Order: sequence, then C-alpha cells, then structure tokens
Amino acid sequence: MFNNSISRINNSSDMANMRLEDKTAIVTGGGKGIGASICNAFANEGAKVIVADIDIESADMHAEKLKQKGMEVVSTKVDVTDPESINSMVQTVLKDYGQIDVLVNNAGARIIKGLMQHSLDDWNQMIQINLTAPFICSQAVIPHMIKHNRGTIINIASIASFMGRPNRCAYVAAKTGILGLTRSMAADLAGKNIRVNAIAPGMIASPFNQSFAQSSDTGPAWAQENLIGRWGQPVDIAGAAVFLASEESSFMTGTEIKIEGGWLGARSRSGEVPLWD
Ligand SMILES: NC(=O)c1ccc[n+]([C@@H]2O[C@H](COP(=O)([O-])OP(=O)(O)OC[C@H]3O[C@@H](n4cnc5c(N)ncnc54)[C@H](O)[C@@H]3O)[C@@H](O)[C@H]2O)c1
Repeated sequence: MFNNSISRINNSSDMANMRLEDKTAIVTGGGKGIGASICNAFANEGAKVIVADIDIESADMHAEKLKQKGMEVVSTKVDVTDPESINSMVQTVLKDYGQIDVLVNNAGARIIKGLMQHSLDDWNQMIQINLTAPFICSQAVIPHMIKHNRGTIINIASIASFMGRPNRCAYVAAKTGILGLTRSMAADLAGKNIRVNAIAPGMIASPFNQSFAQSSDTGPAWAQENLIGRWGQPVDIAGAAVFLASEESSFMTGTEIKIEGGWLGARSRSGEVPLWD
C-alpha cells in the first residue's frame, strides 16, 4: 500500500535528544496544511511517520520531501470516512512497523452554509469526517496500543469546539463533539497507558482557509481580531502536537490545548483599544 520506501537517518548524532525516537505515528490528512506540518515536526523529532491522506498526490509529495532530508516517512492513501480503508491502513502499518504509538486524527472538512441550507447529507458528511472518523480511526489502533501498553491519540478540534459560529452548524456540532469524545476515550483508556488529548486551532492559513486568508477583505481584517494580530500558520500547531505525542505531556489526558492567538480568551469591542498613554 505504501508508495514510498523507507529511508533511514544515517547520522547517529542526529538522533540524540529526539523527543519521538522509537515512535511510529499516523497523521491523517497529513498531505497538506496542519497535518503536513505535524508530519514535519514528528519526523524531525525522530518518529517514523505515516502521511495518510485521501489526496495521495499531496501525501506522496510531502513524504518524498521529508525522505529527501533523511527522515523516515511513508505515504499512504486513506479515506477516514471508510472503515475498510482505515483498517487496511492500520494492518499495513502494523505489518511494516509492528507498532503504532501515536495517532493524530487531523483530517477534517468544513461546509459553510446557512442553518436552513444545510441538507441532511451536509450534516451527515460533517459529522462523519470530523467526529465519526476520529472515533473509527481510534478504535482501529487502540487494540494494538493496549497490546504494547502505550499510545497517545491527538484529536484536532477547533475554536468552533468552544463557541457557536454562523453558517457552520454541522461543523461546530462535530467539533464540539470531538472534545466529548476526547474526554470519554481518555476515561475509557485509564490505566492502559494511552492518553487522549485535543488541540484546538484558531484561524490557521492552511489550504482550508486559503480563500479567507488571501482575500483583501478578510485576510488583514481577521488577522487583527486576535491578540497576537496575525493569522496562525500550520507550524504554530505542530509544536503542541509533538508535546502531546511525547512523554513531556505524560500527566495530561482528556484535555485540550487552544492555539488561537488569544481569540477565545479576550477580544476588543469595535473601536476599543488598550490605553497606554
Ligand atoms: N485551518 C484552520 O483554520 C483550522 C482551524 C481549526 C481547526 N482546523 C482543523 O484542523 C484540521 C486540519 O485542517 P487544515 O486546515 O490543515 O485543512 P486542509 O484542508 O488544509 O487539509 C486537510 C487534509 O485532510 C485531507 N482529507 C480530507 N478528507 C479526507 C478523508 N476523507 N480522508 C483522509 N484525508 C482527508 C485533505 O486531503 C487535506 O490534505 C481539520 O480537522 C480542521 O477542521 C483547522
């Protein structure tokens, strides 16, 4: 199933102090955007990385780029809305590596439509990819994590997990649900040395948000809405994913990290600026 062979890091001094050495990680939606950046960061920290994406061309290209740098990365095609496709990916990873230590449930999609314009099919699609898929992918890897007595699962949530947003009712419902799933899985996996956490990104200039980030209206205007004053980049999410995948976060489970430039923490009303003079 894998489209690329594995290339090994030759320089053993490069392996010193790597935070994910000896870990095998699957990143769904790893071909582009936030997932691609997480793949970079994981591989950079010594993990064997499976770039799993429905868009196999992007996954292949990304894996190839990392392999050229001597990293241990392979690409695979998966449709996270299809249980058979997920099982086939998991079986192949187990056959090739014998273990899965980290699963990042990152693949996601968003429909922007009015409340009454959302069809039942729109609703089902949003729940399927953003909530059901992380559940099925997790169920597929958990038996192997239990067998190896270790694992971490990272679900990519959203600022939409914490607040209503107009024209995204199904996406918001699914992203709110992913926090419940994160907490419940953490509880179910207590005592198994498997931790489950979420990352909630804010406005990130990935392909997902390209049209908003590049628009002369929303690009600069939305950048000013958070406390940092810029759009987030995919790389802004990757460090937290490394942290949650590593032993540095060994006392964290059932919780989430928000990375949104302070957008949820505090916002100014129109015309309101901090007074310094
Ligand atoms: N970009 C943002 O501002 C933002 C904010 C909050 C949360 N998120 C979440 O972060 C995650 C990644 O978003 P992104 O911005 O990188 O999106 P993106 O659209 O840039 O990339 C998503 C990747 O997932 C893949 N994918 C889509 N459907 C798939 C399927 N059925 N099976 C396998 N792979 C599939 C795509 O091919 C793509 O490579 C998503 O869960 C998204 O909801 C993004």
